[in-house]
Amino acid sequence: MDQKKFYITTPIYYVNDRPHIGHAYTTIAADVMARYWRKKIGTENVFFLTGTDEHGDKIEASARELGIGVEEFVDQNAERFESAFKALNVAFDIFMRTTKSEHDQSVKVFMEKLQTAGALYQDEYEGLYCKGCEDFYTEKDLIDGNCPIHGTAVELLKEKNWFFKLDTYLPEVKKKIESGELRIEPETKKKEVLGLIKQGLNNFSVTRQRVKWGLDFHIDPSQKIYVWVEALQNYISAIGYGRDQKTFDHWWPADIHLMAKDIIKFHAIFWPAMLLAAGEKLPKKIFAHGFFSLNGKKMSKTLGNVIDPHALVALYGADATRYVLLNQFPFGEDGDIKEEKFGEQYNADLANGFGNLVARTTNMVEKYAGGVVEAVEPTNDVTKIHQHIEELEFDQALKEWNRIVAWANKQIDDAAPWKLAKSKEEKDQQQLAELLKQLVATIKSLAETIEPFMPGIAEKVLAQLNAEKITKGEPLFPRI
Ligand code: MSP
Repeated sequence: MDQKKFYITTPIYYVNDRPHIGHAYTTIAADVMARYWRKKIGTENVFFLTGTDEHGDKIEASARELGIGVEEFVDQNAERFESAFKALNVAFDIFMRTTKSEHDQSVKVFMEKLQTAGALYQDEYEGLYCKGCEDFYTEKDLIDGNCPIHGTAVELLKEKNWFFKLDTYLPEVKKKIESGELRIEPETKKKEVLGLIKQGLNNFSVTRQRVKWGLDFHIDPSQKIYVWVEALQNYISAIGYGRDQKTFDHWWPADIHLMAKDIIKFHAIFWPAMLLAAGEKLPKKIFAHGFFSLNGKKMSKTLGNVIDPHALVALYGADATRYVLLNQFPFGEDGDIKEEKFGEQYNADLANGFGNLVARTTNMVEKYAGGVVEAVEPTNDVTKIHQHIEELEFDQALKEWNRIVAWANKQIDDAAPWKLAKSKEEKDQQQLAELLKQLVATIKSLAETIEPFMPGIAEKVLAQLNAEKITKGEPLFPRI
């Protein structure tokens, strides 16, 4: 892939939730991509954005329930996301929060652009309103005709809102998706999006009158900007839109907006339409990965089955957590995660696989070669792994990596170096030396290749193998 710069984003996560492994899943995947491209095209040419979505009534209501101020509440929870990602070795370049004043500044400029382009108009919005939520619902959101959160009756209310002329821009969005100028991946998601467009979509409102916790719509002070509309703009506010044109031009358009399929409509239809109206380029690719359930159930606060990423890190370490999370099912598909499989995979692939390969090899190099072997080119080929990463086929990349690990372990079993070491024959000694050289070269290449997934482990192994004298170190993956 010809790539000069690489700008990747995750969704910004709602701060009324605690970070869980669903959020971690997307963010780790984005981190793998960012780390991969940093190695390939240089750190300064990669920009990786993640962050939090902090406005709207639901967030204000959550703060109220806890009896704390909304600002304190969002600060607290944004910090939880940021520290969970750091604990997972996620190296984002910016952690964007929609309550930052820079975001507000950029959003003002963008909304102004939409207005000047004639893409906005005033109209009446009618919906089913819950006083408790201070929010509108549609018929299908309700449970037994009542508010899904409070269980209380809703009332039909009208308010004046500003709307976006989606109908004006939709044909162009459709054309760009069909032609592949705006790539929606995987292919199944592209079909879904085109299906949605075919069904027909209404113009949507971009402001709310009754919302209090939100960004002001300066064109009409009676309104706040609808939270989704400003949240999407974080992808441009984070890189200086309307404030720092040079930085913005450098990074925009995004190379990949990454998310799960739950929010694809906003990203693949509404966002491109708004960008077209504002005269900006469209993101190059929108990739919607699958949604996973946990032990056959939807992961949710009410079911109480939400896994905190910190719990996995405590058990397996950050690197192995990243590895097992991305290795459960193909990235673009839905899947079910079984907790016990994490441990099985950890033991099979990491403790008994790569960890054992490194331990055996370094032990032999120390014992049979005085810790020193000549550097050679490895015979294994990792180009396939790189291709899989570029295509976001993480499980395939890891499968291929494991195949090489198994092959290397088999080299040891087949050659029985402990026997060669005892032999006095020249050819046996030569075979042993050759084997050790090859193994060290293979492990180096395996460590470099796995770096985007397991940066800490890769660094450790490379330091061990690049030392003046190789010694058997601590086990990389203690058995669980
Ligand atoms: N705030 C919006 C996004 C605005 S982006 C401009 C939002 N936030 S969210 O907190 O609900 O995050 C949704 C995203 O979290 C999903 O798109 C996905 O990236 C991730 N996931 C949450 N649960 C997940 C699973 N169970 N499985 C896979 N991804 C999950 O929507």
